[in-house]
Amino acid sequence: MNKKFYITTPIYYPSAKPHMGHAYSSIVSDFFARLKKIQGYEVFFLTGTDEHGQKIQRAALQKNKEPLKFCDEISKTFKDLSKILNLSNNDFIRTTENRHKESVQKLWKILESKKEIYLSKYSGWYSVSDEAFYNEDEIEEDDGFKKSKSSGSKVEWVEEESFFFKLSKWQEPLLKFYKDNPEFILPEARKNEVISFVESGLKDLSISRKSFTWGVKVPSNDKHVIYVWLDALTNYISALNYTDENNELYKKFWPADIHIIGKDILRFHAVYWPAFLLAAGIKPPKRIYGHGWILSGDEKMSKSKGNILDPIEIIEKYGLDPLRYYLLKEVSFGNDGNISNEKLESCINSDLANNYGNLCQRVLSFCEKNIGLKIPNLVEFKNEDLNILENFENNFRSLNLNIDKQNINFYLNFIVEQLFKANKYFNDQEPWKKKNDKKRMNTIVYVSLEIIRKISIMLYPIIPESSLKALKIFNILEKDIEFASILDNEYLLPETKINKIEILFNKIKND
Ligand code: MSP
Repeated sequence: MNKKFYITTPIYYPSAKPHMGHAYSSIVSDFFARLKKIQGYEVFFLTGTDEHGQKIQRAALQKNKEPLKFCDEISKTFKDLSKILNLSNNDFIRTTENRHKESVQKLWKILESKKEIYLSKYSGWYSVSDEAFYNEDEIEEDDGFKKSKSSGSKVEWVEEESFFFKLSKWQEPLLKFYKDNPEFILPEARKNEVISFVESGLKDLSISRKSFTWGVKVPSNDKHVIYVWLDALTNYISALNYTDENNELYKKFWPADIHIIGKDILRFHAVYWPAFLLAAGIKPPKRIYGHGWILSGDEKMSKSKGNILDPIEIIEKYGLDPLRYYLLKEVSFGNDGNISNEKLESCINSDLANNYGNLCQRVLSFCEKNIGLKIPNLVEFKNEDLNILENFENNFRSLNLNIDKQNINFYLNFIVEQLFKANKYFNDQEPWKKKNDKKRMNTIVYVSLEIIRKISIMLYPIIPESSLKALKIFNILEKDIEFASILDNEYLLPETKINKIEILFNKIKND
């Protein structure tokens, strides 16, 4: 197999337990990982936790814990969440692992040997919460505090000896790189944001700190720890065993096909990361996709506002697949979105229970009663059958182009539309009135089953557990799912045994 795909989530700060924003980054990444897998790619899907730096050190101190012990506990809640979200990740990296620390030091040494690093003094504003340096024009005064204009987090004055990365030197090469790779940053609006930031001038970047110790040591000077973003970004290669560049994993999967991130961390991924890599002579990743935020009401979630949405509470109440479906369908990918019980319930009722669940139930029970639990034979397609199959096929062909640009909503809308058409087809064709015309009745059921099969495959990356339940009708197991088989209109073999379907989604009744 030579088609390969490497996808990553951001690695999360284990400063507090995970919230809906983290779940969102992970679920969208899992969607692409699973989709590529059934498209025949060998996929490597990475997630993990970002455990160094002042933010974590302070959070640990507040709880009176050793940083590592503190990270062990919270990192575990992220790892548990990845199971609860049914992520198909191949690895979970922690930046406190040796394999990672060694990679960071290796990258540092290469940058140093290429004279990309020098020692000087930093004085300026720093936000511990964002782990970011800000220029004077990027901060404002509010309530007597200095804050970052973009994130709203407090900044503090830092003045200390620091190693610098010659970022300014990479301004022109980066602009050229964006030009040569017009889809490196998506969506388009984010790309323009990054380009104008780079065009406005890049200053050299402080990449070490001396005033605290919780981090990876600078190899040549152990009074300094490496800036947490240089440390964190390296996870994407350390998980491929970058310390040994000749190993199979690194050779096969680097450069990454896509880093999925939130828009708040675009600058680190789309400016600093490719600059570090270009400077070290390593290929940059192929794409950075900056998604929007999941808002709580109209605001970004934050501890101080007390408006954190807990994915586990929602999953306990409604189930995982409804949450996955909602986030992928109702949030316009790339933009901000929000979630509320009412919206989630209406989505479960209309799309999952009524549209999809109902189609499966009624076709299967009609088939069982009138034909038996087997794929019908004596099939002869008429115009109305060919119409629905061809319409599916034609629209499906334009899907790939959209999905290669991460247009999740196009994919989801296609499914909803086809479900609607399939329900309508079954109603209009009235197989219950064709009991005297077996060929016709069988054909209608056959076509409906084919469409259920196709749509259930398409739903696999979105709602894997429910899709697998539905595919059990046809004895299709996870390992057998092939996206390309969707184009086959006679995949189902007449007379083969089929199975009853479990209830997929319960309608939510509010009295
Ligand atoms: N540790 C860094 C990432 C390092 S990647 C080399 C970090 N961690 S984070 O835990 O603060 O955030 C991780 C991801 O969650 C980011 O992509 C961020 O955008 C996303 N979200 C955090 N809150 C969010 C929402 N409210 N909505 C959607 N995603 C947001 O940043």
